[in-house]
Amino acid sequence: MKYLIANWKMNSIDIEKWKNEFEDHYKKFKDSIEIIVCPNFIDLSECSEKFINFNIGAQDVSCHSEGSFTGQISAKQLLGASKRLKYCIVGHSEARSKGDNNLIVREKSEQLRNNKIEPILCIGEDKDILSKGKRESFLLEQLNSYFETGLYPRLIAYEPIWAIGTGRAADQKNIIEALEIISNFLESKKLKKIPLLYGGSVSTENIEEIMSLSNLAGCLVGNSSLDGKEFARIAEKF
Ligand code: 13P
Repeated sequence: MKYLIANWKMNSIDIEKWKNEFEDHYKKFKDSIEIIVCPNFIDLSECSEKFINFNIGAQDVSCHSEGSFTGQISAKQLLGASKRLKYCIVGHSEARSKGDNNLIVREKSEQLRNNKIEPILCIGEDKDILSKGKRESFLLEQLNSYFETGLYPRLIAYEPIWAIGTGRAADQKNIIEALEIISNFLESKKLKKIPLLYGGSVSTENIEEIMSLSNLAGCLVGNSSLDGKEFARIAEKF
């Protein structure tokens, strides 16, 4: 199975138009490709109703289950907004940069587990860590912290911060090295094979090259998922 995820982030999308453009340019849904759309909280309900052939994911969740947490949304409330909600992103670098440390990422995943929502765990280093040759220890720290309490993400996305939103995806060598670090970690922990994805400036131009990597199961797409036509073209090349 391959996974193609649209992370719309905080962009405003005309859902009806996006859907029509996607369907005009994506000829046939295939059983071998799972397409997942992650809209903002308030669009979850509409997306769940309209995107019958897609799976639905949330972009974030509270690390609490209920109570006085102004502005936060619990896992249970996510399910209230979308009965078809299957996934939720945790550990995205944009959330980590606003304070989500490894502990919070874990707590959020516990909330998801309690509500049977599958976590999509994002990990990835910044440019400074990469250039100092500290990528391996950094990724292992993120992974160790996540797995030490027995949590189990449904998907893991390697999203190097230095490639996100730049228009320049990581080169094959860098993606291969990072996937190897993650695979070796999972093997050493005797964890069941978790599908590994890549995210960071994926586009119609580079999708084929990226997906040619043998142990890559899919991609997490930001900017190039905002346009239904462009995302359909990526899906066609998948
Ligand atoms: P871009 O595709 O815009 O680089 O975003 C990637 C990302 O952060 C997906 O979660």
